[in-house]
Amino acid sequence: MATHLAAFLPEKGQPIEVREKQTLKPGPEELLIDVKAIALNPIDWKQRDFGFAIANYPAVIGSDISGVVLEAGSNVSATFKPGTRVTAFAPTFFAQGAPDYGAFQQRPIIPATNAAPIPEYLSFKEAAVLPMAYATTWAGWSTIGVPRTTSYSPSDKQGLLVWGGSSSVGSAVIQSAKLLGFTVYATASAKHHEYVKSLGASKVFDYKEPNVEDAIIKAGKEDGLTFQYGYDAVGATQSCQTILKALKGDGTARLASAPHPNPDAPTIEGVEAKFVAAAVDENARKEQFSFIFNTWLKERLEKREIVPSPRIQVVEGGLHGINKGLDILKAGVSATKLVLEL
Ligand SMILES: NC(=O)c1ccc[n+]([C@@H]2O[C@H](COP(=O)([O-])OP(=O)(O)OC[C@H]3O[C@@H](n4cnc5c(N)ncnc54)[C@H](OP(=O)(O)O)[C@@H]3O)[C@@H](O)[C@H]2O)c1
Repeated sequence: MATHLAAFLPEKGQPIEVREKQTLKPGPEELLIDVKAIALNPIDWKQRDFGFAIANYPAVIGSDISGVVLEAGSNVSATFKPGTRVTAFAPTFFAQGAPDYGAFQQRPIIPATNAAPIPEYLSFKEAAVLPMAYATTWAGWSTIGVPRTTSYSPSDKQGLLVWGGSSSVGSAVIQSAKLLGFTVYATASAKHHEYVKSLGASKVFDYKEPNVEDAIIKAGKEDGLTFQYGYDAVGATQSCQTILKALKGDGTARLASAPHPNPDAPTIEGVEAKFVAAAVDENARKEQFSFIFNTWLKERLEKREIVPSPRIQVVEGGLHGINKGLDILKAGVSATKLVLEL
């Protein structure tokens, strides 16, 4: 029986433990991946500490991996033949922590819809930071009704607000919004403004400034922009709603919120805030992920139209470094993505 090392969560709130696990064969539409790098996300420490979205223990959690295809199921396209370097979104959340599907192991099973081949120029640690960030970006566009085919040019004067532009999700949202043709305004700490501009934001505002909302509204008016859409990557419902209300023009503005929108934020007429979620229906989700990974991400990487973001910090120890990495992430990072190399 083939085995590999996996990092198991034994119980809610317990440290993750590394031990042997049986290696499975992939189903017809799945891949067996030899993982080379894992990126950490806030959901990972929330699952470890609070048992969020876990059906049974022990569980294997984690979402973001890169690696090499070891074996592809019988219905998987030749794009993913063994030896292909990939980035992939482990479906731990949808599998409720089932050990075969979590990212925190050497050889997880991954649906082929959740993988994108990566070009040679991209290292494994760079590729590992992409899946959650772009899955969340596109789930956001879908949640607030930004069509996949959106293709504005600057003369259309369509603005898009990204709150938290130096975060993992926000930095991906900026790059995607820029490719859709929006003129992007973002917020970040002052020390990250040049970096956030380099990702595609035309103006960046310091969210720690007391009058930041007024400053954004003033700039939007001076630039003659209309903001029908916003993306809150970090949790600033009221500020985003206030700005969208002032700059939305006619009709309803829509705010995608990666964290749950603040339930205490006052309702603002003409602005809808919605929690970002992937499609609930399994077939719709398969189609959504196939678009994101098999098509959009693959093509954008081939054309070098996106860069891995934000800055990568390697946590030493491979699987044994997961608890330390999750503790660092829980304490808070600034324009940094934590990655483990296997
Ligand atoms: N709904 C979903 O499906 C989904 C998926 C993924 C993530 N999420 C959630 O989305 C959130 C972001 O995740 P992430 O991985 O992108 O986080 P992250 O990279 O760890 O976020 C850290 C960043 O947040 C920025 N930040 C913190 N407070 C801010 C504020 N008030 N205004 C502007 N920026 C602020 C910091 O900016 P500075 O360093 O510039 O100060 C820092 O760079 C988390 O709550 C996560 O749980 C939801």
